[in-house]
Amino acid sequence: MLLLGVNIDHVATVRQARYRNADSGEPDPVLAAHEAHLGGADIITIHLREDRRHVRDRDLELLTRTCRVRINLEMAATDEMVRVARGSGVLMATLVPEGRQEVTTEGGLDVRGQASRLRDVVAALRESGIGASAFIDADLTQIEAARACGFYACEVHTGPYAAAFARAGGDITRPELSAALGQLAVAGAAVGGAGMRFHAGHALNYANVGRVAALPGVCELHIGHAIVSRAVFVGLREAVRQMKSAMAAD
Ligand code: PXP
Repeated sequence: MLLLGVNIDHVATVRQARYRNADSGEPDPVLAAHEAHLGGADIITIHLREDRRHVRDRDLELLTRTCRVRINLEMAATDEMVRVARGSGVLMATLVPEGRQEVTTEGGLDVRGQASRLRDVVAALRESGIGASAFIDADLTQIEAARACGFYACEVHTGPYAAAFARAGGDITRPELSAALGQLAVAGAAVGGAGMRFHAGHALNYANVGRVAALPGVCELHIGHAIVSRAVFVGLREAVRQMKSAMAAD
């Protein structure tokens, strides 16, 4: 069954726009997680950044205590974040590159370039019962490196596919779009062939999600911006429900 991970960082971003460094205030991402669950979310994703600019430690703590679906902690592979993850009770972490100035995660993790460090991080997480997924570009050398480091899953970056989809107006007969989708399919097959779970995410929306959801072997999609944006108009529960329908449509 294809699972949906709902990223609720943007809910925390709205809160922090008003309350800056405070630990409370509305909208509460913890309530958002419960609404997303009621809409059919299988996983809740939060990215606890080094600068805590949206999700805060208090959010992680309350979510692990109260959320009834799996929590996927997106994190940089730093000593501090490994310590936080190990003390948090989460069972899954997705390692991402982190840039201070970026609006959102911009590219995949260079697993090959920092393999020995990542092998240690994956092992440290595993000691605490946390499975590590690597957010990577659709690149076969990165997939092989992820396997060698002990990652149990790879989340393949769907940003280039989403950009091609927008440029092609969703017309799959356009070579640029079919090539981008083909790259995801090849990467997904390689992830599965290497014995890891194939996850996908970034810049997926209600229009472009169907073809990714239909890729052979894909187990999880991780989606934030499109769902939280639609929630402004229809509510989060309904926005998640609509995304689950869009995933099943193609
Ligand atoms: N997957 C990863 C690894 C991400 O960093 C993000 C953005 O935080 C997402 C998925 C969700 O991307 P979007 O908000 O574009 O749906």
